[in-house]
Amino acid sequence: MGQDPTKPALPWNKTRVSSRLGIEYPIIQGPLGGVPTQQLTAAVSNFGGLGSFGAHGWSPSAIKDVIAEIRALTSKPFAMNLWVSMEDEGAFTSSREAFARSLAPLAGHIHALGGTLPAYRPYVATKFEDQARVLLDAKVPVFSFIYGIPPKEILDECRAQGILIIGSATTPDEAVVLEQAGVDVIAASGFEAGGHRGSFLRPAEESLTGTFSLVPQVADAVSVPVVAAGGIADARGIVAAFALGAEGAQLGTAFLACEVSGANARHRDAILNGGARRTALTKGFTGRLARGIDNRLLEELNRPGVEILPYPLQRTLVRGLAIPAEKAAKTDLLPLWAGQSANLSRQSDVKTLFEALVSEVSAIAGPVLRWSRDESGK
Ligand SMILES: Cc1cc2nc3c(=O)[nH]c(=O)nc-3n(C[C@H](O)[C@H](O)[C@H](O)COP(=O)(O)O)c2cc1C
Repeated sequence: MGQDPTKPALPWNKTRVSSRLGIEYPIIQGPLGGVPTQQLTAAVSNFGGLGSFGAHGWSPSAIKDVIAEIRALTSKPFAMNLWVSMEDEGAFTSSREAFARSLAPLAGHIHALGGTLPAYRPYVATKFEDQARVLLDAKVPVFSFIYGIPPKEILDECRAQGILIIGSATTPDEAVVLEQAGVDVIAASGFEAGGHRGSFLRPAEESLTGTFSLVPQVADAVSVPVVAAGGIADARGIVAAFALGAEGAQLGTAFLACEVSGANARHRDAILNGGARRTALTKGFTGRLARGIDNRLLEELNRPGVEILPYPLQRTLVRGLAIPAEKAAKTDLLPLWAGQSANLSRQSDVKTLFEALVSEVSAIAGPVLRWSRDESGK
């Protein structure tokens, strides 16, 4: 459970997370579903961290290509990330009428920007199992996931293939069931985090624990190593996470601001230049609760009475506005994902960011971490 004063001091980077994942520094670039790039994933892995690729929106054949492309860019471990739950139940039954009602608050903006209104189409599912099959066949180094726990056969096959497993918890209870399922590492995701709340035991709205509270509770509840995610954007955050019992830190928004991320230039600029001082949670961007910059679009979609389609149908709808809004540089009408610490982001170059994190954590922490369960030196 984190640090133990009776244990010898070790370099801060020698934790069970770094030894289990086979990486030099226990710093994870969190999966950035929707805006992932092979270049960012590989770059972070090449610098000695763990790059992740958020592949949940991709077809199995596209995922296969992505894995090959990442492998061409790095020989180091990297993670492929999927969503265990791919849609809300209502996605299969949502009607044309509901689509029209949810389009109404966006239609005026789309017209004003000269865009094309998205058309209703019944939902066609991509199956998690088919995506996972590709990861298993390709024997990716690390399989990470949110929104639940994959079927036992998939996890068994991961273990048989030597694929390391990272599950994501938003509450201590979720961490406990992930440990029971046999994951190797748990990412504890506090509600400061940018992007979606991957809760799966209770509704996301009832699972809004902050990182500072969540991490020590998860570290106490499980014996597998914990990675802290949510609101960490610089070395101070990483050291604080370690003090709370984490053995690794996962950053999303800070990496989103880098040029090699898939975020558009306006999104990156907002994070780096003060446009992300206020963030908020909304279901309005996709249908599932997620954190983004509190702009006009978010506020309008959060208004009482606005009908939001089930995930992922709302995502399609909002994309219909995002395309013309981006062309017209209407940042206030774009879904701009960001965590609460976005405003601490300073670097647009991934190498500079990663090296600054490592050197600043080393300067603050030094060899002061005393792990109660270390696997270092193996
Ligand atoms: C744009 C965006 C997309 C994300 N997509 C995923 C995803 O597909 N899977 C996942 O496990 N986490 C996802 N996350 C969460 C991040 O991997 C990371 O845990 C989180 O951003 C950490 O909090 P921070 O934003 O405060 O750094 C996403 C975050 C952002 C900002």
